[in-house]
Amino acid sequence: MSTQTAHDTRPAARAASGDVLHVTGLTVEYGTDGDPVRACTDVTFTLRRGEILGVAGESGSGKSTLITALTRLQRPPAATTAGSIVFHPRDGGPAVDLVTASPRTLRALRWTSLSIVLQSAMDALNPVMRLGAQFADVLRTHDRTLDRKAAWARAAELLTTVGISGDRVRSYPHELSGGMRQRAGIALALACGPELVVMDEPTTAVDVVMQRQILAQVLRLRRTLGFAVVFVTHDLSLLLELADRIAIMYAGRIVELGTAQELYDAPRHPYTRGLRDSFPPLRAPLWRLTGIPGTPPDLRRPPSGCPFHPRCPQRFAGCDTHLPVLGEAGGAHLVACRLDDGDAAATGTERTTDGGDR
Ligand SMILES: Nc1ncnc2c1ncn2[C@@H]1O[C@H](COP(=O)(O)OP(=O)(O)OP(=O)(O)O)[C@@H](O)[C@H]1O
Ligand code: SF4
Ligand SMILES: [Mg+2]
Repeated sequence: MSTQTAHDTRPAARAASGDVLHVTGLTVEYGTDGDPVRACTDVTFTLRRGEILGVAGESGSGKSTLITALTRLQRPPAATTAGSIVFHPRDGGPAVDLVTASPRTLRALRWTSLSIVLQSAMDALNPVMRLGAQFADVLRTHDRTLDRKAAWARAAELLTTVGISGDRVRSYPHELSGGMRQRAGIALALACGPELVVMDEPTTAVDVVMQRQILAQVLRLRRTLGFAVVFVTHDLSLLLELADRIAIMYAGRIVELGTAQELYDAPRHPYTRGLRDSFPPLRAPLWRLTGIPGTPPDLRRPPSGCPFHPRCPQRFAGCDTHLPVLGEAGGAHLVACRLDDGDAAATGTERTTDGGDR
């Protein structure tokens, strides 16, 4: 975990060599005229080489908006209105701010440095092309010296790494099961040896057994190939098993960021606790599932103060007017909650666990 704090704006040039990505103050809005919806606000984090950063949060918390902004695949009406996404190439070449990079620079980075796996592999795979031809297209875009035969052979090898028989290069996507398509999408994303792979709910469309197989393969490939991953899901218990660190998003903001162990053993934000207690753990004994009362806010009209205050069982005086900033909760663990600011003590308000002030 990097020791960068939430609002550390050290110049990219001084980045530690072990970091692959510095995201600082990233803000993304839908619709710039009239009444814009701010779906990501002031998102800041650092990703180390080979690290898996999980991003979790309920539906509408801004996870996909963040992913498409990171990869510059966003389309209008989405627009990045502030912040930077600085990518540091492994070869020590100059850092690139993906927010301002030209289309040509982005094309050169795509697949070789930065790739994406989406919720439905059908979004990435061309339904009318055999897998081998699709892999060959990607491989040859970045290595013109590769002939067709060698590219198809490489495609077969790549399919094998995700547990699909190499002779499936001759198959069309519709001839594969959903789980195989997802794994083929992951193999395609890894084809050119990227340094960073961004995955948006890559296992949502498959059953639990296939989900486990895919996650095990991602972990194994990460160990051998060393790429870093930003892995988005609404399922925190899955991330607790997979990720090195986890960022929790609520209403477009990161409200807690820490190691998987920290978030499992000692979540600091009331929302993280609620999220943790909403999902059955994958391995540990089942605890009573409680869920989070209420629904996520409408980002067209976000709540004042702490965006979680209308649902927070520990809110206290001032939570509806004061916006907590992401700050250190001990070591590199970051949390955006006034309980960690000492504000509760300062106001003298007695905190309750049933939803109000006394
Ligand atoms: N095309 C759009 N136009 C306007 N607002 C949008 C658009 N797409 C998303 N939003 C807004 O951005 C917010 C975040 O959406 P996003 O898809 O990033 O959430 P998510 O966390 O990925 O949700 P899910 O878990 O359902 O995939 C939503 O609450 C929605 O209000
Ligand atoms: S700042 Fe207040 S309302 Fe927000 S999470 Fe912390 S205690 Fe709850
Ligand atoms: Mg999404």
